[in-house]
Amino acid sequence: MINFIVDISYLLGAVAFVWGLRQMSTPDTARKGNLLAAFGMGLAIVATMIVPMDDAENNYSLILGSMLVGGLGGFTASKKVQMTAMPQMVSIFNGLGGACAVVLAMTELVHFYDGTVAFDKGQLFIILTTLLIGAIAFTGSMLAFAKLQGLVWDSQVTLPKHNIINWILLFATVGMTTYLFLGGAALGMSMAIGLMVLALVYGFSFVAPIGGADMPVVISLLNSFTGLSAAAAGLIYNNQIMLVGGILVGAAGTILTVLMCQAMNRSLFSVLIGGFGGEATAAKSTSGDQIAKVITINDAAIQLYYSQSIMVVPGYGLAVAQAQKITKELDDLLEQNGVDVKYAIHPVAGRMPGHMNVLLAEADVPYPKLLDLEDANSAMTNTDMVIIVGANDVVNPAANDDPNSPIYGMPVLNVWEAKHVVVLKRSMKPGYAGIQNQLFFHEKTKMLFGDAKVSIQKLVSEIKTL
Ligand code: TAP
Repeated sequence: MINFIVDISYLLGAVAFVWGLRQMSTPDTARKGNLLAAFGMGLAIVATMIVPMDDAENNYSLILGSMLVGGLGGFTASKKVQMTAMPQMVSIFNGLGGACAVVLAMTELVHFYDGTVAFDKGQLFIILTTLLIGAIAFTGSMLAFAKLQGLVWDSQVTLPKHNIINWILLFATVGMTTYLFLGGAALGMSMAIGLMVLALVYGFSFVAPIGGADMPVVISLLNSFTGLSAAAAGLIYNNQIMLVGGILVGAAGTILTVLMCQAMNRSLFSVLIGGFGGEATAAKSTSGDQIAKVITINDAAIQLYYSQSIMVVPGYGLAVAQAQKITKELDDLLEQNGVDVKYAIHPVAGRMPGHMNVLLAEADVPYPKLLDLEDANSAMTNTDMVIIVGANDVVNPAANDDPNSPIYGMPVLNVWEAKHVVVLKRSMKPGYAGIQNQLFFHEKTKMLFGDAKVSIQKLVSEIKTL
């Protein structure tokens, strides 16, 4: 009977998890989807706790104690984290998932080498894979966190000929895994510890040379690694829910990785061998003695008020300034005056996938107003005014017309095709990729300097007086 209850709970948990993920695909149902998936996982955890009920050594106090510590830690961190620091948080969660897989695999290996349990080749393969992927995901994600948090710079962790070092480490790690696999129980725990250390070093080294703007791709790849290691751990324990959850996370991470590479028009290989953005290109300023034109609040307000169609281009600066609600207020004010307001959403605007959609949904911007890259670009020539709120790289024309630019080939929003462009930012500093933006010197462009939230507040007040 207990087994039946557990199986049914796992099935319901898996269905809730899949359905929850499905609901997360649109902002309207994303919150419900999140709760549903969490409910599914909660149900699965409770069901798993029932399994060892008859077992005298069930360790309930240890399990509940760890859940309390982990749950409280996760809850507090989620409450405190700023939207702009979400990628760091995802990295830490990823890394801890990988660390769990390492601990599970090492526990099984201890029993295997001391002769307490026997594993066939298939089981040994799964355990070694869990160890390998988990260890790479752990140190890789921790380094990704440190880089995103600004605690570590690429130059501090990258050695000369780092890619060659990575290839050597990769071959050594795969070679040692094969050796442990073929050697079976005749080998000892020290070899398994050796493999763990090697894989931990490789995880760190693999992420070390990857440049700033490529970090989201790496994080999503590491996310898929963590999912795969969880799925492999599910195979070790013959636990369906771990398997299903791991496969879903692994598949979602892989799909996201591919989508982000497509959005930046880069192959995964070129991302992994590094080279895009970050400090390496920061010095390439092409502004020379060009001068950007500045617009006053009053002029910008008049231009907005008398436009027929406006395209808002949100970027990372909108998140920093927390300008989403005031942007919606501006939108409402303009719509009342008969202006058609749309939002152009670049797939990598901000610092994580869907960043802009989440912020705008938080401000109750109706979803149909958001245009994806292609639709926004098609509408650009018929747009009277583009208002760029803290975006930079995603509107950089160098991606289209400068073959020497590190972002050449990345699809961007062709805002210069609109009649007028106003850029809201605080200075002439470059964006995340560290490269200068010729758009700021374009004949159609005017700069409105200042914090985006403050500037839009002033625009709203000004428009109200018109
Ligand atoms: P960025 O190119 O990073 O530009 C953001 C701009 O916002 C900066 O130039 C900054 O200029 C301005 N800004 C910052 N705080 C501001 C404030 N309080 N008020 C007004 N402006 C402010 O952003 P983007 O155009 O959204 O492009 C995203 C970049 O991040 C891409 O290179 C992308 O590859 C990378 N990236 C994306 C992701 C994902 S998946 N979305 C994850 C990580 C990295 P000032 O300092 O002069 O104000």
